[in-house]
Amino acid sequence: MKSTARYPKVNTEKLSVIGLGKLGLCTAVCLADSEYSVLGIDNNSDVITSISNGVSPHAETGLQELLTKVKGQLSVQLSDYNAAIADTDVTLLIVPTPSMDNGEFSTKYLVESLKPMAIALSESRKPYHLFVIVSTVSPGTLLEELIPLVEFHSSRQINNGFGMCYNPEFIALGSVIHDFFNPDMVLIGEHQPSDGEILEDIYRNVCRNQPKISRMSITSAEITKISLNAFVTMKISFANTLTSLCNGIPDADIDKITTALGADKRIGSNFLRGGTPFGGPCFPRDNHAFSEFARRHGFQAFLAEATDQINNAHASFIIDKIDQIINDKSKTIGVLGCAYKPGTPVLEESFSIELIRKLIEKKYSVTVYDPIAMDGVRVILGNSINFTQSVKSCVDESDVIILTLPDPAYFKIGTYLKKTSGKIIIDLWRILKDKDLSEHKYYALGNYK
Ligand SMILES: NC(=O)c1ccc[n+]([C@@H]2O[C@H](COP(=O)([O-])OP(=O)(O)OC[C@H]3O[C@@H](n4cnc5c(N)ncnc54)[C@H](O)[C@@H]3O)[C@@H](O)[C@H]2O)c1
Repeated sequence: MKSTARYPKVNTEKLSVIGLGKLGLCTAVCLADSEYSVLGIDNNSDVITSISNGVSPHAETGLQELLTKVKGQLSVQLSDYNAAIADTDVTLLIVPTPSMDNGEFSTKYLVESLKPMAIALSESRKPYHLFVIVSTVSPGTLLEELIPLVEFHSSRQINNGFGMCYNPEFIALGSVIHDFFNPDMVLIGEHQPSDGEILEDIYRNVCRNQPKISRMSITSAEITKISLNAFVTMKISFANTLTSLCNGIPDADIDKITTALGADKRIGSNFLRGGTPFGGPCFPRDNHAFSEFARRHGFQAFLAEATDQINNAHASFIIDKIDQIINDKSKTIGVLGCAYKPGTPVLEESFSIELIRKLIEKKYSVTVYDPIAMDGVRVILGNSINFTQSVKSCVDESDVIILTLPDPAYFKIGTYLKKTSGKIIIDLWRILKDKDLSEHKYYALGNYK
């Protein structure tokens, strides 16, 4: 049950969410599915029209179903920041924070949305409003920039007329809704404990599991957020270093090695699997932000920098290896998988896209298939490649097949390959390593045989 009585100045029955993107809309529908009435605000009219028509503007597992289910609990408005202040006491800000050249996160969109809300607050008679920054920010952002901004435009003082928390999410695209309902940990950076309590209560209502709720100062939470992804990417780069190494050593099996390592509790098996370099909208940029944060404080983050260098070197290693294996420009190449990982159409910092671009540069003819990312690939690679409609046609039309993702959509490929012969198969995640592919030439990254 929602307990509003505990906070006399704040009603949590209705919440507002600014930014209805891949994370924001999922957050809004999850809150709405947990008995909260939600006001969603976005400055993109297409996003608002689509949601108003009951159609999710984003391809995310379970989002369309939940959007349909919570129809009565979610209302949306185009850029109506005044309504967020007038109709709700708690606002979650989930707008983009694109990376800048130096690796820090831009606060442009946070400022654009906070400023009108602060002005509305200056004209309001309500006693308190809690702003919750969910967008990823660089350490120092709330204390040095966002809190002073709201104080200035609202003519109120932090902890008196308003509060601000930092509450970043650790969800993964493709499982945002599941991760939101079942987090390992909820991170809350608070300026005063009563603000953190409000958020903690909301999460206790929303989470289907009993997550660890880590409450701390705002700056500690800002550092925790980027540290987590810096650590995870370090693990990936470690596994990928082992992968490259095993690739040249007969009888070395990367999967046996990482499985054994992961069984040790000090290490753990998550993200310890040899494969392609990490990509996507969070990992690379959070890792860069960590290095930049260290630099800003006169310190060099050797590990984070090495993680990034290994990631780039691993990409070159795979691309060179593929070129050596094929070594014949007349061969047609089929690439299965374009997104940065399975289950999402997101192409940002996708290794597959980098690979396809390099293959085109090397004058190969490339055909691609991805179960959900094809529209985006058409936009960025257009006429330079061929598009095919299924795994089977990609196999049929290509001399070489490169599997770039461990996507269940490709598990059936063994059946199609049985009906052909003489193909080169390059399997970057070893998903076919137990299949009989004796009629083909099979190369599994990190599993030299
Ligand atoms: N998507 C993820 O996997 C993920 C995971 C963790 C953290 N984050 C962080 O969450 C934030 C949002 O990410 P996202 O992937 O949802 O972005 P997104 O680009 O998918 O969506 C952002 C939305 O905000 C809207 N917007 C931009 N400026 C606005 C403004 N001034 N007022 C109202 N709406 C505005 C955009 O129209 C868009 O709909 C980023 O800081 C990101 O780093 C995202």
